Amino acid sequence: MKDHRVLSGMRPTGQLHLGHYHGVLKNWARLQNEYDSYYFVADWHAFTTHYSDKIDLEKNVADMIVDWLATGLNPNTATLFVQSKVPEHAELHLLLSMSTPLSWLERVPSFKDQQEKLKTKDLSTYGFLGYPLLQSADILIYKAGLVPVGEDQVAHVEFTREVARRFNYVYGREANFEDKAEVAIKKMGKKQSKLYRELRKSYQETGDDESLIKAKALLGEQQNITLGDRERLLGYIEGLGKIILTEPEAHLTKASKMPGLDGQKMSKSYNNTISLREGPELVKQKINKMPTDPARIKLTDPGDPNKCPVFQMHKIYSSEDTMNWVTDGCKNAKIGCIDCKKPIIDSIISELVPIQEEIAKYQSNPNLIQEIIFEGSERARSVARATMEEVRDAMGITY
Ligand code: TRP
Ligand code: SF4
Repeated sequence: MKDHRVLSGMRPTGQLHLGHYHGVLKNWARLQNEYDSYYFVADWHAFTTHYSDKIDLEKNVADMIVDWLATGLNPNTATLFVQSKVPEHAELHLLLSMSTPLSWLERVPSFKDQQEKLKTKDLSTYGFLGYPLLQSADILIYKAGLVPVGEDQVAHVEFTREVARRFNYVYGREANFEDKAEVAIKKMGKKQSKLYRELRKSYQETGDDESLIKAKALLGEQQNITLGDRERLLGYIEGLGKIILTEPEAHLTKASKMPGLDGQKMSKSYNNTISLREGPELVKQKINKMPTDPARIKLTDPGDPNKCPVFQMHKIYSSEDTMNWVTDGCKNAKIGCIDCKKPIIDSIISELVPIQEEIAKYQSNPNLIQEIIFEGSERARSVARATMEEVRDAMGITY
């Protein structure tokens, strides 16, 4: 599975919190061991909604990388980088913009949603409209197969697939495509050519995915054909032109079960977060201030844990035994809400201790962070450069 490339990004618009940790970062850390993974700080994307805000990007970018490292991303396993350090993203964005219909962008659900939600921001900009296309460039430039994202981003990955398909359709149809594909088939040797033809025939006749997958695997193993030939033959299976940009798939991150302090999803925009850098005193204060089942006014009033955001947190942090103690104690008015909150406070504080130790370690070594960003970005850049060569070639920008 290592041949599938994973890519995802995060906008550096504020501090990372427990919702990011439980909902995103743990997932990224797991994927880095299974796939060739690319994770980046989407700093340009921050301007699409915050172009005039005074956010300290330099600090946010460094803090974000530090928090990623502290929660388990490994710069030797995954490629960690910063978008603006790979300016090829902007070149691909520009070139893709030439063939992307305006109506596709206007139709992306987040376009209208965000304009409604963020009424105080000026979102009638060219950059905001084009933001999903910048995201497409981020993905396509690495030929990523899997994009781990939350529900709200799935439409952007779908949009990216359409952009890739259109690009391949417009620029992948070279003169003499069939002749060139036939020559390429012969280069594979007798046995392999025969197998390729059989799989292609079977796929075209029956459309069965199995043959398509096998044919792609076969092409992946070929040593004696060029990259261009491989793309031709990939496209030839389906009868199209060359496949230059690969269509990614969304890898849906299960909705984070991490509730915020008010029981809604934990999110900066709801102001209900616990940051990864929160000190123990503040954690205690925040949890103690959490609303509980409104029916429990006095200690003697029985409550219902299912109507209480605190119980949602127990689901993340507590053992069966503790949960039973809560349910019994709440329904039968045997425990107070402050008692009930205590184990959560303890769990969160002890969860944050090792993370904060790591954060402190990295913060004391800013040069190391700069080096990690530099090296990751260079590694990303060499992949991005190779894709841009192919894109320019396909578009005839060869002079
Ligand atoms: N739009 C994403 C978000 O707001 C961030 C992002 C930018 C991204 N480029 C990406 C995510 C590419 C996945 C792939 O969360
Ligand atoms: Fe919520 Fe616990 Fe209080 Fe019940 S006892 S209302 S679950 S905080």
